[in-house]
Parts: sequence; C-alpha cells; structure tokens
Amino acid sequence: MPPIDPATNPVRLCASEALVERGDAVVFEVQQWRRKVGAFVMRFEGRVVAYLNQCAHVPTEMDWQEGKFLDRDRELIICSIHGATYDPLSGRCVGGPCLGGRLTPLRVEERDAQVYWYPSSDIQPLPAEPLRDGGSVESPP
Ligand code: FES
Repeated sequence: MPPIDPATNPVRLCASEALVERGDAVVFEVQQWRRKVGAFVMRFEGRVVAYLNQCAHVPTEMDWQEGKFLDRDRELIICSIHGATYDPLSGRCVGGPCLGGRLTPLRVEERDAQVYWYPSSDIQPLPAEPLRDGGSVESPP
C-alpha cells in the first residue's frame, strides 16, 4: 500500500451505497507523476478496494465499459484488452499476460457511509491547473 502523504486530506469518492457487492466500480481520475490516470473503487467480499485503472501487461485502461471490471462470474478483475485477470482483493495477477504483475492499489477507507481515498506522495488529486497532457481541471467527485 502506498504511503499516505500527510499533507493531503482524504478525498470523498462516493457514498457507500454506490458500491454494490461485486457490482460496477465507481471510476475517478487522479494524477500520478503529473499525468492524469484513471482509477476505480469497488466492493468485493464486503471490502472496498481501489486501484489505478492500468493493466500490468500494457498500461492501458482495463474496463470494457466504464466501471465494468469483473469477469462473467464476478470473481476476478479482467482486462478487456488481452484478458489478464487479477484478484480483486490483492490486485495480484492470477492469469493471462500480466503474470507476476499486480495492479497499483490506492488506499481507501469507508466510514460514516462514505468512501474516502487517501492520496499518497505519488498519486494525488488532479490539480487546479491543466496537466501536461491537457487533462481535466476538475477534482475527483
Ligand atoms: S493490456 Fe491488459 S491484458 Fe494486455
């Protein structure tokens, strides 16, 4: 788990009820090393987990439709590009071309019926000004 940046406050992502067990994820955007990157948060076995939306095989977004990360049986996160599969609780690759890799986890916490993300020194909320790639000026929801 990445270390928390003590200078950064937690960011509210969504209400707890928005994350249904093994349901669609809530997607949001962050910056990693001054680049805009997608991220997602979902509920699996009662736990709330979040990762960067970047496959360990090729760093591209994995969902075939926004927020749809689980396979047909709703057991594994699956990349829609070449079919790599990941354990939802650990983010570790368990099949396909990502073998040995893992998703990048984000620290999240659920309290008072809300879900919060704790930025790290490497992964931060989007800034107020545009990023190098012309990314959004909005903060995550
Ligand atoms: S880009 Fe995800 S499996 Fe190849």
